[in-house]
Amino acid sequence: MPESPSSPLDQWIAAADRALRTLAASAAASRPSPAAGIGEEEPLGVDEAREAVALMRVNHVGEVCAQALYDAQALAARSPELKAMFEQAAREEADHLAWTEERIRELGGRTSVLNPLWYGGAFAIGLAAARIGDRASLGFMAETERQVEQHLQGHLERLPESDVASRAIVAQMKDDEVRHADAATALGGAELPLPVRMAMRLAARVMTRTARYL
Ligand SMILES: [Fe+2]
Ligand SMILES: [Fe+2]
Repeated sequence: MPESPSSPLDQWIAAADRALRTLAASAAASRPSPAAGIGEEEPLGVDEAREAVALMRVNHVGEVCAQALYDAQALAARSPELKAMFEQAAREEADHLAWTEERIRELGGRTSVLNPLWYGGAFAIGLAAARIGDRASLGFMAETERQVEQHLQGHLERLPESDVASRAIVAQMKDDEVRHADAATALGGAELPLPVRMAMRLAARVMTRTARYL
């Protein structure tokens, strides 16, 4: 039997390392930020900047959760193909993490102080979903991405019109999340029962309402 590339202990150590990187270090993007091509902007008013920071902090928390979910799902995936797919998804989400973090800094804001809590909670949920089985794990990914897409659409309606940079980032993220949802469904993701989908919406609402302020 071929030897597995790394032991479970190695995989857990690597997961802990990625958690620390997500929480403690500035994320590195593999694609340029969609805001990078935008020239000099008109400075935002105080209220506009405050609203933009609050919304982008919520989006940054969402991406911290995405790192935790996909890392946990990769760790517990049964098939090597699926493990590789979750690892790739986490890499793409790292762009979103970096872009939102950079934008919050540009606007003079800060990321959520509760990020370790969000990360831990999302990791536990991702692990639970993955332990049910690969189809459930993929279904959970598809539903998560669809809910995030709807949430980002809501933010495009609420972000100040003049905050062209944040809007460009959120629009690109939304396109990426649609692609992630379609990929998970195409790979055989099962549709989740309604109570589970509703529980996910409720958990997301608690997270988004809190992250606006903390
Ligand atoms: Fe994302
Ligand atoms: Fe995504």
